[in-house]
This record gives sequence, structure tokens and C-alpha cells, in this order.
Amino acid sequence: MPLPRSILQPVVPEDRDLAVVAGAIPEGLTGECFIAAPHTSTLGPPHAFFGAGMTYVLSLEPGTRGAAPGTFAWRQAWIDSPSARLQQKRPDAFVRSMLGTHSPFGLVNAANTASLPWGDRMFMTWDVGRPVEIDPVSLRYLGEVGRRDEWQVFDLLPGPVLPMITSTAHPIIDPDRDCLWTVNTYFGQLHIVRWDGEGPIQRWPIANAVVPQSVHTITQTRDWLVVGDCAFKVEAAVLTGGDRTEPANADEPIYLIRKADLDAAKSGTEVGCLRYELAPEMNHYYAQYDDRDGVVVMFEHTQNADIAMAAREGDIDAWGRPTDPAFYGLYGFSMTPARTTMHCFDPQRGERLEVAEIYDPERYHTRQLSAFDWSAEGWEHPEAVHSVYHGFRPEAVQQRMLDLYADRVDRAMLPTEEMPCTLATHSWDGLQTISEYRWRDTTDVATSPIFVPRSAGRDGRSRHAGERPGGLHGFVVVPVLSDHGMRVEIFDANNVGAGPLCTLASPNHAVPFVLHSAWTPTLGVVTDTDHAAFGDELGQIDQLDDDLANVAREVARELAEGLNPLA
Ligand SMILES: [Fe+2]
Repeated sequence: MPLPRSILQPVVPEDRDLAVVAGAIPEGLTGECFIAAPHTSTLGPPHAFFGAGMTYVLSLEPGTRGAAPGTFAWRQAWIDSPSARLQQKRPDAFVRSMLGTHSPFGLVNAANTASLPWGDRMFMTWDVGRPVEIDPVSLRYLGEVGRRDEWQVFDLLPGPVLPMITSTAHPIIDPDRDCLWTVNTYFGQLHIVRWDGEGPIQRWPIANAVVPQSVHTITQTRDWLVVGDCAFKVEAAVLTGGDRTEPANADEPIYLIRKADLDAAKSGTEVGCLRYELAPEMNHYYAQYDDRDGVVVMFEHTQNADIAMAAREGDIDAWGRPTDPAFYGLYGFSMTPARTTMHCFDPQRGERLEVAEIYDPERYHTRQLSAFDWSAEGWEHPEAVHSVYHGFRPEAVQQRMLDLYADRVDRAMLPTEEMPCTLATHSWDGLQTISEYRWRDTTDVATSPIFVPRSAGRDGRSRHAGERPGGLHGFVVVPVLSDHGMRVEIFDANNVGAGPLCTLASPNHAVPFVLHSAWTPTLGVVTDTDHAAFGDELGQIDQLDDDLANVAREVARELAEGLNPLA
């Protein structure tokens, strides 16, 4: 059985009240799940990653957010950012390419990839734009991080009012400094960015830190930031509309930057780093906060997966069949089994040691982002990681990819059976598999899992911490996409192998492709945030013709007046 045909279906998103359709809601389930996605109306070719950002929120407490008693609110909103508003007013001015959505205004900041809670605040992110803050209750746009002139703007393409800023979809929050760390790359030069929640950003160029491809993740320990080059390859040929000519790089530099060096350096001055090499290619990685015994980082390798490529008209899939047009725009899944490694870096000696690995070709193929207990208490000493694997999916592997990777991937070794999704809990220490659940139906697509701490905030704990922090004591929430409608499955984090404790759904509720998700305690209304107004960033508006310039001014006015034409 194949992938669900509805995965890229352009449906109209809906608010729904989800009901318990199997099992029972467990005790201690609280808070909300935020899910980032490309808007359903902007899915499809050339690449589904580049649709305009939207937010789904699922309340885990019945009857909240206006849901009927005993049901669970599933709410959605288009992020009403300047990018989305301009696109809505002048869709004719926007063109989608394999690098994003372009226009004479500049590059759309899609903010569609991940949701990042920070205390009582919520940020929506992607790799080619500033993090976007939304109101966690109304889901309305509040602003972007920092002013455009504080960032390095990629200026080879015009961006008079929508600057192209290469950053990362996975910034991190420093619990000791109460700041956000992210990156800003500029023609391969790595800059580290710090933002304290208001006012200007600080930005430091890192000496001799070159990023050959792109940065999708930044992670941290108590004393170090870790930034690696990621396997989203952008070639000059693609910039001009051509095809990829090379596979993603097979090995990548990893940079360790000491936080104390950034603390001591004035913004704008160069800061040093330690450089390591790692193979194979990767995209997500996570460091344990406690670094007294070394900098311990888990790398989710994306070996022989190419998310920078997408299915298109005329493609032939991995099993030699014409690719169904329903999948045009779907990114390239893995051609070989998933690999996860744990490394310990010794900054004093400059050494790196691989200490554990997950590699099981029979069971683990095409990993999604994994779930952790992100509370400060949990992150100090993680116990478990919950990973969703999509399985081998011939429809999401095109012959063009296999041709490009012919030196690395043996077509004869491709699985001859389709593999369904798997949820596996691995121990942090040693990466042993603790428990595993496999969906039976290959037309079910499990999305990014979400760890929910049990009874968070009770008994004097912080609002983000549950009983016994670390990732095993709580729940794993997994939205599952299907042609029969989306459902939410809730597992015991200590025993996902027992299957869902509870399933939530609404009849015929179509939800296509979503990206990453995060849990947060129920948040209050954010009313007092300091962001640069779009109207204050129109200094280059004279590069637009009068017609488009007037549209930009209209958007600035509507934002200033709190109007929302996208609601
Ligand atoms: Fe990601």
C-alpha cells in the first residue's frame, strides 16, 4: 500500500473539535501542541517546503479554546506576516522556485517549519528568514526578530521589503542567559546571533567557520554552541532554475563555539571556534546540556536522503513507476536506511569519539524530527528520545535522485516491500531501543512526535517539567495523516510499544503535510512585545514600481492598525 494521496492535497484548513474515538484520555495530560506547516492552499510543486506558514494548535485539555465539553480544540491560522499579506494581495507578483517563493518585494519568510516555545512566547521558524513571533492564543503575527539592518541580508536577489536572511529553523533558548541563539550565514560565512527577547540582536562572525551548504540546526550545552553544516544543498545551477548536478556533501564541518567567548566579545567582532569533521550527512542534532564529561551530541543523519529535491512532472519512482502527480512537490525520502550516532567531543584535546549508533536496515528508514523532554530539568540529563521513522517509501524516491547518488546508493539494495511508519523510543545513554510501535497501514503517515511531560508544573516543579524529567515519564503525541482523515494518537512515553492509549479525531478531517511540532504549557496572551514594525523597514521601497510600493504601504498600515485580511 502506498503513501496517502492526500498528503499534498490543497484543502481548506478547518478548526475542529476532536473527540476521543479510541481508548481514554490519561491522567496528567496538559498543555498544548503547536504544529508548523506550509499553508494547505500553497502546497505542491515545485517544493512543498516553500508554502506560506500556518500554525495548528491542539489543546490537550478538553473544553478549552472554545471546544465543546469533552472535546479537544484543533485550531489553525495563516500566519499574517508581511510576507503572507503581500502574497495574498498580489499573488501574481510571486513565483515559486526550488529555493523559495520570490517576488519583486523579495523572498517570502515562510515561517512554516518549526514552532519554538520560549517561556510564555511562541516563535515560528524556517531556514531562510528571521524567527517570527506569534501570539500563542490568537495565533496572530506579532513581529520578526531584530531589524533587517542588524542581519546580514543575502543581496544577490532583490529584497527591497522582504529581505532574504539565511538563518535556521531550529534556534535554541539558553536557560541560563534567557536568550535565543540562532545563526545567520552569509555566502558561507557563519555568524552566531543572540537575541534577548527585545531590542537589537547581537551578531558575531565566527573565525574560519565556513558553511558549505546550509544550517538547519543549532544546539547547545551549558558552555558551548554546536553548529554543523547540513545536507540541504543549494547549487548555483538551481539558483538559475537548473537541475542539481551533485549529491549532498557526504561529510560536513561541525563548529563548537564557547559561549563565554561570545559573552566577552562585542557584537560584530570575530570569535573563534573549534572545528571537527563528521560523516555521513545530517540535518538535526541535539546536545545534552550537561557538558561536564564532554560535549555529547546526537546526530540524526540524513544519509542518502535529499530534502532539497522534490518530485515533479515526468518523474519515475524508485520502483520504476510513473510518479503520481499527487506527489509533485514532495521532498526526497531516504534511499538507504536511517543512521543516528552519538558523539562525545573533548574541546580540551580537540578529540571526537563516536559512542553509540542506531542502524537497523530492517526497521528504521527515513527519520522525522525526534521528540525530547525539552524542559530545562529534562535536558540536563536526557533519558530517552522518541523517533518517528517514515519507512522506505518508493513513491518518495525518484529515479533522478538515484541517478545523482549512483556512486553511493546501490539500486539493487532498495527494499522490495514498502515499510510503514515506526515510533521508537531509544535510550539517550547507548541509544538502545527501549520500545517500539509500528503502524500496520502504509497509508498512515506519522508526523513529528511531541513529548508531553506528565502532570507538568505540579508539586512545585517548573511549568515545563513533569514527574521524573528526562523523556520517559509522560506521553508521546503523534498526529497521523491519512486519506481517511487526520487523527492524533497519544502513547505512554514509557511504553510506546503498547500502542496508543488514546486516539482523537474528527470525521473526514483532512490535514495534509505538516512539519515540526512542540509542546508547551498553556500560554497566556502576549501583549507587550518589542518588534520592528514592517512600516519601519521600507527604506528600499523606491526599488518597487509605484503599484507594488503602494501595496507594501497598505500592508504596513494594516499591520499598524491591527487589521487582518487573512482571518
Ligand atoms: Fe527540522
